[in-house]
Amino acid sequence: MQHTVTFTFDDKPTTVAVPTNTLLADAARLAGIDIGQPCGGQGRCGRCALQVTEGSVRRRSTLRLSDSDILEGYALACQTVVEGNATIYVPPQEKIERRLTTDRVVAEVTVPADYEYLQDQIVRRIHLQLVPPSLEDQTDDWSRLQTALRLQHRYENVTCSLSLLQGMGEILREGDWNVTAVIDIASVVKSGETDQSVRLIDLQPGLVDEFSPLWGTAIDIGTTTVTLWLVDLVSGQVRAQVAEYNGQIARGEDVISRIIYASKNGGGPELRQRVLDTINSLLETACKRVKAKPGNVVKAAIAGNSTMMHLLLGIPAASIRLSPFTTAVNHPPVMTAREVGLNTHPEATVDCLPGVASYVGADITAGVLSSGVDVAEDVTLFLDVGTNGETVLGNRDWLVTCACSAGPAFEGAGVVNGMRATQGAIEEVWINSATCEPTYRVIGGGKPKGICGSGLISLLSEAFITGVLDKAGNVNLSINSLRVREGAHGGEYVVAWGNESASGDDIVLTRVDVDNLLRAKAAIYAGFTVLADTVGIPLESVSKVLVGGSFGKYINVEKAVQIGLLPDVPWEHFDFLGNTSVRGAYYALLDWRKREQITEIARRMTYIELSADNSFYEAFTSALFLPHTDMSKFPSVAEALENKQVDK
Ligand code: FES
Repeated sequence: MQHTVTFTFDDKPTTVAVPTNTLLADAARLAGIDIGQPCGGQGRCGRCALQVTEGSVRRRSTLRLSDSDILEGYALACQTVVEGNATIYVPPQEKIERRLTTDRVVAEVTVPADYEYLQDQIVRRIHLQLVPPSLEDQTDDWSRLQTALRLQHRYENVTCSLSLLQGMGEILREGDWNVTAVIDIASVVKSGETDQSVRLIDLQPGLVDEFSPLWGTAIDIGTTTVTLWLVDLVSGQVRAQVAEYNGQIARGEDVISRIIYASKNGGGPELRQRVLDTINSLLETACKRVKAKPGNVVKAAIAGNSTMMHLLLGIPAASIRLSPFTTAVNHPPVMTAREVGLNTHPEATVDCLPGVASYVGADITAGVLSSGVDVAEDVTLFLDVGTNGETVLGNRDWLVTCACSAGPAFEGAGVVNGMRATQGAIEEVWINSATCEPTYRVIGGGKPKGICGSGLISLLSEAFITGVLDKAGNVNLSINSLRVREGAHGGEYVVAWGNESASGDDIVLTRVDVDNLLRAKAAIYAGFTVLADTVGIPLESVSKVLVGGSFGKYINVEKAVQIGLLPDVPWEHFDFLGNTSVRGAYYALLDWRKREQITEIARRMTYIELSADNSFYEAFTSALFLPHTDMSKFPSVAEALENKQVDK
């Protein structure tokens, strides 16, 4: 039976007709209104609530709604179905404000010193002069081209697509049998021997300047952000860097929510299209900057976690989250842009880099490649701090890795006044130990709207060192300050009063927030504790701690150590590398030796599954304190606490 549903959004009513049992979220989409579903439509986050002002709906779950919400007509769009005609008010939708300006993503990139085009490059542009056909020589066009490739450049067994074959005759004749070819050379291992496979990507009439730019792109698909570098493959230079939030965010903030959303009817294709739209629009922007066209880009190397890779390729990802946690593919075969859906040259090679396991993907193998852990002489710890804390420990002789689900607390989710690192977020906090009064710094200046990950780390650390929080994360209510008070969820600390904040409400750190943050940091710390224990190496003996991920760039080391997120090793042992994933993709795009190295890294890494490891649970429980139950692991924090006592 059909029902009429009228949505009012931005003061504009839109009416659609839908059958009984249609989800409100789907009906809204039909009306052209995009309802954000941060938990992927699981009914967990409560952030897709709409107000039913009239009519008949059935709420399957009201877990995230209070009694008064329900009385006022609120219903979760992802959990409510239409049962009759209805009128719905759609509150303003959350907007993701940008911090991702070009300046923020520009990383210093130097072309590897030993890079030499036409020796190291995978994609090459070459000139060919063919012998024209005659009545005496009626060889077919394709064989004629293959002969020229073999005799003039020694490339054997070249392949090409049907669409290239379809246009080949015209191009050869237009160029009067002089043509410029773009080829892609891949290494293949046959019976233990490394061999070359050569594919023709493009053919143009005439002799195009061999050394004019030849475009390739390195892409990192992060759960939150997609980063794209446009690279001139001839010079090896990165000519444009762009980044944008992953368009899938509106359908889930973490990989699990995305997998759940993708498993629903139509969810997979939608998520695939969303990330393709993000990549294609970044490609357009990057190309505009250098006056190139996306169609000129002839190769893409892509890194990303295993879920992102599956969703990009339209491969069901459900097995990633279900025991025994396997992927459909760790190392996808090389594909063309036409197959994947990228708006580059349709024949461009798309190389999705190899991952290791469900939660250790190509972003980590690319990170290891670019950070050099696999060739380090000394034992090195590599961390990618994000929704999933992926960790690699090793050196040139061995590599072990694990991933723990830290959850998105450090991205501001699950924290009452948490937010992403965008305009208006408090990014650093200092607390006066005598008065408990805070001072803070806001991204972009102005009134604060909430607190982002680096701000939360800083706040947690300051609150602990000044005694506002105890070791277990309890707010010390005996402190004589209005900043410390009993709130709806237990003790809380007021970071900004309502008259200072953008919303007019107090910005607070609640007990529930502290618990979520403690769980996130404990999961990350427990991950590398288990790795170190597995190989019998004390964490203190690690010579380098390399922190990847753009979040890492903004972390204050001292404060991250003080809350027990990072190990207590001398500061000079830390290096914050930014986006190691896109950098690794860049190396793999540019140089066939690096491309082989990344396959070798994936092969060498021993993956430790933490859900099957009892010691992880023990390490996690011990790390659920500030900074840890065992203070001997954090001597610098013990010293800082002692100094505070002396100050008081
Ligand atoms: S509760 Fe509906 S998307 Fe989270």
